[in-house]
Amino acid sequence: MSALYAIRAGDPGQRREVTAAMPRLAELAPGLREKAVTAWVSAWLSSTHSTLEQMPYSLQAPDYRLLDHTNEVADAGILLADYAYARWSVALDQDILLAALLLHDIDKALLYTRVGTDVAPDPSRAGLPHGVLGAMLLKEAGLPDQVVALVGTHTTTSPVRNDGPEAWVLHYADLFACDHAFRLATGTVPFFQRV
Ligand SMILES: [Fe+2]
Ligand SMILES: [Fe+2]
Repeated sequence: MSALYAIRAGDPGQRREVTAAMPRLAELAPGLREKAVTAWVSAWLSSTHSTLEQMPYSLQAPDYRLLDHTNEVADAGILLADYAYARWSVALDQDILLAALLLHDIDKALLYTRVGTDVAPDPSRAGLPHGVLGAMLLKEAGLPDQVVALVGTHTTTSPVRNDGPEAWVLHYADLFACDHAFRLATGTVPFFQRV
């Protein structure tokens, strides 16, 4: 059996916890929502974290919660998408965008573990890059190829970038929310201040 993760539907209580922790999951079409919930339950139950709240966002912002970052990226992405449509008539696939916003950092649940008050890379994930491990999990959980590609290429260090409007919105929503967490973290320079 792979040590990376296992796809598990979880029990009804675990599925309710995931849905309550990320309220915008309720805005996805039902079929997509169930797959997204299964993906999050799988990441959670395959991780070292006993609760969703324990999942850290970043090695560079150990006190910030992955749940907060995820919800903030989802909120910011919907705001940006609404503006792009109203101002520039940019049509986006709302379901694909929202799924990607809610799932883009799912593999951080697996890549990081807590060691006391610190956050450290989890050695059991075979050194896979952020984004790639998430894309693998999402493909196996049955998410659409567009969501898999958006998540697999969303990082600032990805050698391949998706060129659709959903990738554009995900990128800026992610960096906007990320820099909020980085501004709060001691000793971490936010992206917008890097030279
Ligand atoms: Fe990310
Ligand atoms: Fe992110």
